[in-house]
Amino acid sequence: MAPIDPHSFTDSTHPLTTHISLSLYFDFSTSTIISSALLTLCAPHTGDLLLDTRSLTVKSVIDPINNTPLPFCLSTDVDPIKGQPLTVSLTNNSKILITFVTSPSSSALQWLTPPQTFNKKFPFVYTQCQSIHARSIFPCQDTPTSRVRYNAKLNIPHQLSAVMSARHVERRAPLAGGDSCFACDDSLWCAEGRVVEEFTMEQPIPPYLFAFAVGEIAYREVGPRTKVFAEAVPAVLDAAAKEFAGTEDMIRVGEKLFGDYDWERFDLLVLPPSFPYGGMENPRMVFLTPTVIKGDASGAQVVAHELAHSWTGNLITNKTNDHFWLNEGFTTYAERRIVEAVQGEDIAALNIGIGWKGLVDEMERFKDNMEFTKLLTNQEGIDPDDVYSQVPYEKGFQFLWRIERQIGRAAFDEFLKKYIAAFKFQSIDTFTFLDFLKSNIPGIEKEIDLKIWTEGTGIPSDAMEPVSNIYTKIVSLANEFKQGRMPSEEEVANWHGQEWELYLENLPKSVEASQVTGLDCRYRLSESKDYEVKVAFLQLAIASRCSEYYNIVEKTLKEVGRMKYLRPLYTALVQGNVKKEEEKIFAQRVFSEARETYHPIAQGVVESILSKHL
Ligand code: BES
Ligand code: ZN
Repeated sequence: MAPIDPHSFTDSTHPLTTHISLSLYFDFSTSTIISSALLTLCAPHTGDLLLDTRSLTVKSVIDPINNTPLPFCLSTDVDPIKGQPLTVSLTNNSKILITFVTSPSSSALQWLTPPQTFNKKFPFVYTQCQSIHARSIFPCQDTPTSRVRYNAKLNIPHQLSAVMSARHVERRAPLAGGDSCFACDDSLWCAEGRVVEEFTMEQPIPPYLFAFAVGEIAYREVGPRTKVFAEAVPAVLDAAAKEFAGTEDMIRVGEKLFGDYDWERFDLLVLPPSFPYGGMENPRMVFLTPTVIKGDASGAQVVAHELAHSWTGNLITNKTNDHFWLNEGFTTYAERRIVEAVQGEDIAALNIGIGWKGLVDEMERFKDNMEFTKLLTNQEGIDPDDVYSQVPYEKGFQFLWRIERQIGRAAFDEFLKKYIAAFKFQSIDTFTFLDFLKSNIPGIEKEIDLKIWTEGTGIPSDAMEPVSNIYTKIVSLANEFKQGRMPSEEEVANWHGQEWELYLENLPKSVEASQVTGLDCRYRLSESKDYEVKVAFLQLAIASRCSEYYNIVEKTLKEVGRMKYLRPLYTALVQGNVKKEEEKIFAQRVFSEARETYHPIAQGVVESILSKHL
């Protein structure tokens, strides 16, 4: 008996689940889902079977072949990271039916009341399962080592519609006599005003890619395999359709570089502003923050990233979170290849440069905990949400870019295609990748220190900053700011969001307050519609203790829930050696007022930032 993943109770001697059938009755009045899950194992099993759960109430466990109860025990010990194991005793069973109810505080789900939505008429609910939150929606072996196919029936109020990262089968009336699969009584399942939306996912996916959203949702068609969905607000849908018009071109570039697109559809879902990430690569339907819609097609970078996951992450998946760089490092590399093809080398170099600075800054953040500057990490006893960082993305990118430089682009492209074809629909670890690399590029281990790259801390000496005129120019302008020189109107004439982001990121962590206001008077960065720019500026303003910007900080923290913005702003407010009592009280007050509007994952992350410093 041994766990196969530091973040799951799944045991090495237990058969893995291959299929899940879900029946979900959405009760918006209690923010719960009354559910059943029929699990099919890859082989019959006798003895205990351990499943992951978090904040679920388990009502019954049944052998669906003869409808008899199976003994089970939901642990009363709650592991703060992994949750509560559900142990079921089996006697040569390969199917298990579990009936259960989710909790209003399910860590994967954000329930929005009508006033929290754009149209203010109907409620909205959506999921975010990565890294280890699927278990708060249904009991499962919540490890990416496992890959499952599934179907799902979502029973919802008829005014709403449901979308999933799966094929939509039909929208129909609920049926009596078995349709609910024991999730609830027919009186509830077939009540007036309910409809069932049915979905099926035929490709096997790791549980963290399970996703749905339910609300007043509409769409626009933007390409032959792409619709963009959002809350039914014409202005939002139109802006999104415009922003993402180039998606099909990017899918074609991806196919040319990495092989066939295997997921059939590539739809996009624009979520409410509380969505905690920039994007989430849910298969067939990527989830996006509305902050990527900036009106200048720059949101394409986030779409390029989530699209790239269709090959790296969703086809080839990290076996556990210790190998997370296999997902994000490869995807960052693939994203930049797509960006380079559609937007040109200069934009790709800017992105590499922003990433480089991000990586350098993470070394400072983890200076007392160098484990998380490694690509291959040991996350035993660690909550992945707490150590989320740029390291797997940017050090992973640097590693692959280093290999590309060594063997040349043509050979690396050929290698990548071969790697994806060899391991698609599999979950692998770092060693499997390294073995494949060494056997396909003989002698590579003599040219590149693969062990230093994957197991060493810090940034290897053969990592590299990008070389490009614009990149170098912006970094040197940022250095000149230290001597008091601001860039001229002429110098910034062609700057967009990413140029400003790079510039701001390269300024010293704090400067004279008068320099901050001087820069803002001239370039109005605190009013930028681009949150990357606005947040980078506000971070500088906080660190430089310009309290005149705190009202904008407060407004920003209350209008978006993307953790990429919450983390640096809250951290800047509470961190540091100098006395920051006022800022700390301010941060606590804003959080207590904004908390309800954040996704539970973001609530947890902000709590952990505040508790570290208060
Ligand atoms: N898969 C990640 C998001 C994620 C990572 C969710 C870990 C939960 C745990 C997604 O692909 C991602 O990297 N999003 C980035 C986009 C950016 C790199 C373009 C984000 O949200 O900022
Ligand atoms: Zn990613």
